[in-house]
Amino acid sequence: PEVITVQELANRMAERGADVIKSLMRMGVMATINQTIDADTAELVVAEFGHRMRRVSESDVEVGLKGDQDIDEDLIARAPVVTVMGHVDHGKTSLLDALRSTDVASREAGGITQHIGAYQVQLGSGGKITFIDTPGHAAFTEMRARGANVTDVVVLVVAADDGIMPQTIEAIHHAKAAQVPIIVAINKCDLPDANPDRVRQELLQHELVVEEMGGDVLAVEVSAKTRQGLDKIEEAILLQAEILELRANPNRAAEGVVIEAKLERGRGSVATVLVQRGTLRVGDIFVAGAEWGRVRALVNDRGASTDTAGPAEPIEVLGLNGTPMAGDEFAVVETEARAREITEFRQRKKREAVAAAGSRGTLEQMFTRI
Ligand code: GTP
Ligand code: MG
Repeated sequence: PEVITVQELANRMAERGADVIKSLMRMGVMATINQTIDADTAELVVAEFGHRMRRVSESDVEVGLKGDQDIDEDLIARAPVVTVMGHVDHGKTSLLDALRSTDVASREAGGITQHIGAYQVQLGSGGKITFIDTPGHAAFTEMRARGANVTDVVVLVVAADDGIMPQTIEAIHHAKAAQVPIIVAINKCDLPDANPDRVRQELLQHELVVEEMGGDVLAVEVSAKTRQGLDKIEEAILLQAEILELRANPNRAAEGVVIEAKLERGRGSVATVLVQRGTLRVGDIFVAGAEWGRVRALVNDRGASTDTAGPAEPIEVLGLNGTPMAGDEFAVVETEARAREITEFRQRKKREAVAAAGSRGTLEQMFTRI
């Protein structure tokens, strides 16, 4: 169905009508300023102008919810978001725990208090790094694919006694598809049968050429157990982050992505989200995938309540009316009515998709969309 006039689309993107018509012409669509176009066409135009579009109902699209209105002066430096990937049992979580214990703040607070899938480490140097953990099990492919998309840098953990394995290769593919730089952590170097040279050799076969071999991939020998090389990993991440010049506007309605979500007894639906732009506040009304809610409480990675969460901060959000899925986008909206409108539309679409899939493929969906 036709959803929007060329004029309205131009207005919502804050672009000139003539430029939108030109863009349409390049796609072979001849339209006048007052003509209406369908959502698919509108989406192509929106993408060409570098904006983003959401289909909020069958008869309406929304343009520009995603960050496009940010002007350069509003952007300030933010922490890098690092996803840790690798084969099952190669030591991702151990490495994260070890890195986390270098965290100045949590050491002050008396050590590690809890374990969630995402947290921020404050380095002695004053810098911050946000880490996201991913499971190595084969059933979690989808989550790793999504993890690669929310991240600035991938730390690929390879056990030095085991070498490159199927989920290592899969993680390399995800990182490459998302065009995210890879830092290799050759882990378990404390083990007697550790063979970091073999790991570097095997990486070659997957077009990851480490610096020692004349390439540009940083590979650091580490041990989550003895803490060898932890400082070098942090250094490598900060170096990459500097090159990427990561910035975001903290002074806008929050947007980001759901890292994990579950229903917890006594707490309701709880989502761990990564704020990507803006600042999330207690009281905000927000949409997460096909669910919505009003932020009742925000709990940080140290288990402390807080009133706000800014760019690159992982935070637990309470107050959802349902449980969204890992990888769902979230965005703060103006009103409850708006939140209902968006989520009702999405839930209907979801039901339709499930009905269309029938019995076929539903098992697979269950396993890949955790
Ligand atoms: P999944 O999340 O299940 O994919 O595993 P993981 O990659 O998070 O591995 P995890 O950190 O759970 O570690 C797996 C096993 O390896 C545990 O028994 C750890 O104690 C051990 N391990 C992790 N890092 C090291 C290390 O540097 N040296 C030694 N010797 N053992 C390690
Ligand atoms: Mg783990």
